[in-house]
Amino acid sequence: MPKVLREKIKRIENIAPGIFLMNIESGYIAENAKPGQFVNIKCCEGLNALLRRPISICRVDRSEGTFDIVFQVKGTGTEFLCRKQAGETVDLIGPLGNSFDIDDKYENIAVVGGGIGIFPLLFLLNEKKATKKTAFLGFRNKELIVLRKEFEQASDKLNISTDDGSEGYNGLITDLLEKDIVQAGYDMIYTCGPTPMIKKVCNIADSSSIKCQVSLEQRMGCGIGACLVCACKTKYGDDWEYSHVCKDGPVFSSSEVIFE
Ligand SMILES: Cc1cc2nc3c(=O)[nH]c(=O)nc-3n(C[C@H](O)[C@H](O)[C@H](O)COP(=O)(O)OP(=O)(O)OC[C@H]3O[C@@H](n4cnc5c(N)ncnc54)[C@H](O)[C@@H]3O)c2cc1C
Ligand code: FES
Repeated sequence: MPKVLREKIKRIENIAPGIFLMNIESGYIAENAKPGQFVNIKCCEGLNALLRRPISICRVDRSEGTFDIVFQVKGTGTEFLCRKQAGETVDLIGPLGNSFDIDDKYENIAVVGGGIGIFPLLFLLNEKKATKKTAFLGFRNKELIVLRKEFEQASDKLNISTDDGSEGYNGLITDLLEKDIVQAGYDMIYTCGPTPMIKKVCNIADSSSIKCQVSLEQRMGCGIGACLVCACKTKYGDDWEYSHVCKDGPVFSSSEVIFE
């Protein structure tokens, strides 16, 4: 059950150019959050405050009663957030949205993330019991690679690509997934990141008949299913309908989503 909370920032750290990790004290989020869920944060004062900003839950520490978010500064809201200091509070609603299906029956899994889409996948890897976990992460360049150690610890194998070849494979992370897919024998792929990337991941999974779950990062308004700003097209029998990414998602089965 999501709650409106005012929580204390324990630590905020600039971990890469324009990317910040915020560790927040919240027994409620730490105890109740599931991988794939997000918090909607009040990032501004005055009229702008009405539109909260959705940020994925990246890691929880249940014994400490804290959770981490990692965000990239994009505009007014995230700029406001990155100026916060340890000891100050953040006004947030959460945990929101549905979550990834991390049923134990999926034993050999892959996660594929791009840019800011990698953060919910770390929470997933830390929570998911599986015999084999492989991570594929794509970044624009070496400077923007974050949480490498955390992903290495949470997975059995970490593959990295950069668009400019400054680290890891030079090219798209989906190239590496495609090369690996036949012999790897994955029974579930989880993905989050830019739409062209997740579209490609869904195609690769589909052509190998592997189940795939996608987390969509749509622009949001209310965050609670009341405004339709976050609408995306999903299949409905032979027809289609609009789903709310904030309430029905952000996680969908790849077979449900209609990419345009
Ligand atoms: C479910 C969900 C989880 C998310 N998790 C994270 C996360 O863990 N870390 C993180 O850095 N970001 C995450 N985002 C994206 C984040 O919400 C946006 O970057 C943020 O709202 C931008 O706000 P702003 O006021 O700084 O920028 P704005 O001034 O609102 O926008 C600046 C730029 O960012 C783009 N933008 C705005 N909203 C989004 C969006 N939802 N997705 C992609 N681009 C957007 C705009 O098109 C514009 O170019 C998530 C989004 C969703 C829907
Ligand atoms: S953000 Fe308002 S309905 Fe989803």
